[in-house]
Amino acid sequence: MQETRTRPAVLILLGPPGAGKGTQARMLEQAFGLVQLSTGDLLRAAVAAGTPAGRAAQAVMARGELVSDEIVLAILNDRLARPDTARGVILDGFPRTPGQAAALDALLDGQGMAIGAAVSIAVDDAAMIARIAGRFTCAECGAGYHDRFKQPHEEGVCDECGGTAFTRRADDTAETVAARLRAYHEQTAPLIAYYESRGVLQTVDGMGAIPDIAGALGAIVKKVTA
Ligand code: AP5
Repeated sequence: MQETRTRPAVLILLGPPGAGKGTQARMLEQAFGLVQLSTGDLLRAAVAAGTPAGRAAQAVMARGELVSDEIVLAILNDRLARPDTARGVILDGFPRTPGQAAALDALLDGQGMAIGAAVSIAVDDAAMIARIAGRFTCAECGAGYHDRFKQPHEEGVCDECGGTAFTRRADDTAETVAARLRAYHEQTAPLIAYYESRGVLQTVDGMGAIPDIAGALGAIVKKVTA
């Protein structure tokens, strides 16, 4: 009997701060067993651990600018080397520059893998400020919430782990968000055309409700893993 195998999915989520990349990557992880690789989370962990990379990244992140490709690629390569990524990954917040996109191509080529889809989550900048201003996260498990758009079912208790401590990100101030949006438009948005030219671009309307966007992304994952 012939063994049926699913191809490891490499899904890129592109979108400005607040587009919902983290929210959706987490849902896809749970639904499809893929691994969410968020360079923002990896960098925040490095900052918290006080590693040399984390110390170099801290001030850059606080200004809302992009951390150097060298640091980001080193952190991502370490994470990709772990065996849980073999089934497939959702790249959340990576690549963010043409240099990172080229490095990713070379890395995947070397492993005989290809990008299944690069999904641009299309949103309005103005709405992103409101989304980010209301965001908070479970301090135990990292589940994301919003003061208006996604509250825990029981106030003050995480739906996923029952934790009762929540945090807000240091770079979610109005000034830093404006800088992050600028960095996105100047350095990351050009990747949309790059992935379109490679024939892997998909666009999803990110202004809808969270479950509707999850449905659209789930359909893309099913297609690229079929
Ligand atoms: P990173 O952590 O990647 O942040 P970001 O790209 O600014 O994105 P966010 O995490 O703010 O937003 P999101 O799209 O994940 O939205 P979320 O799902 O939380 O990067 C932080 C910093 O690290 C960068 O500024 C940079 O310095 C550095 N960095 C990271 N990667 C790098 C790289 N590759 N190269 C260089 N530097 C790098 O949603 C936001 C809120 O809205 C939540 O509260 C959520 O509940 C709510 N929400 C989500 N979807 C919806 C919806 N459809 N409707 C209503 N509310 C919604």
